[in-house]
Amino acid sequence: MTGLSGFTHPLLAAASDTAERYDSLLMFINVLSVLFFVLVVGFTVYFSIRYRKRSETQRTHPVKHNFKLEVLWSALPTVLLIVMFAWGFHDFAALSQTPANAVSLRVIGKQWNWTVSYPTLDRECTADMAADGGANTEFYVPVNVPFTVKLSSEDVLHSFWIPDFKVKKDALPNRYTGYTVTPTEVGDHRVYCAEYCGANHSRMTGTVHVLSAEDWQLWIDGKLEGANLCKNDPKAPDYAKKLFTKYGCAGCHSVGPEKTVIIGPALYGLQTQGTETLEGGEQVATDDNYLRESIEYSEKKRVAGFSGKNMPAFRGRISEQELDALVNYITGLDRPADAPPTNDGTKPDDGTKPDDGTKTK
Ligand code: CUA
Repeated sequence: MTGLSGFTHPLLAAASDTAERYDSLLMFINVLSVLFFVLVVGFTVYFSIRYRKRSETQRTHPVKHNFKLEVLWSALPTVLLIVMFAWGFHDFAALSQTPANAVSLRVIGKQWNWTVSYPTLDRECTADMAADGGANTEFYVPVNVPFTVKLSSEDVLHSFWIPDFKVKKDALPNRYTGYTVTPTEVGDHRVYCAEYCGANHSRMTGTVHVLSAEDWQLWIDGKLEGANLCKNDPKAPDYAKKLFTKYGCAGCHSVGPEKTVIIGPALYGLQTQGTETLEGGEQVATDDNYLRESIEYSEKKRVAGFSGKNMPAFRGRISEQELDALVNYITGLDRPADAPPTNDGTKPDDGTKPDDGTKTK
């Protein structure tokens, strides 16, 4: 497997670790396909000449089966297919692993532009609207450091695609999705929406600026010349806490470590605890999607022991940003101040990348 690692497509940009892995797997599959094409066609041509009918009186020996040959042509493709599957699955799984040093991007799609905020940096880049109705959003990330994108949509399906990085994932209403990728080349890379979402779908674009470590620090400090420094996120530290009161959450849910039950379940340490038991005994993971669903559609998953306590459903009543802030607030109740927010509610891993050793670049 490692022999082909680091191969990149000669015609397409491959500016991320994912792109290199993807291209290596694609190359492996292509080489195999060519090999088998040559073998199959070659033998077909060879046999049709070698064993052609030479005269009217020629008789053919009846063909009996060959056990060894049959085992070989069943087992070999099976093994090769398993290799392709395992390799592809390994690379696919790597997209969902968030190392502890990853830079967090929160990306929200709506008709027809992207908004990106940096939960740990207090920055927000909104779309730059052109006169012709086009919108371009600028994204800033450091080179050779993984960044994780947490996606959702305010309205319909969108898809957050960075072709040079060979990563793409749908942004859905009502759910968080995302991926982690490490850019490997300083420079600008285009972003497209890859899910048809209405009239200006083709104009829902962006640019990822991959910065050197020094430029990244300058950008964070608000001193990078020529760059969109993005505005300070208006959501001050106590923004979420105020929402928690404004929407009446505080009337039913306690947030302290003593986990007092007021009316609804206590929220402290909910995500660290990992699972929750529902009415009927089912165990569910208390990840970010569980929290957002419980806010938007509170009746869907009822915690054991809380039947008859009817919480209002907030779908359509709070914005995507407010929802985010509340989810981050709840998951952050027992999180140390310096820990990064996670991609999907799981804890960050130990910071090692899945296959660092195989890169030849
Ligand atoms: Cu958004 Cu297409």
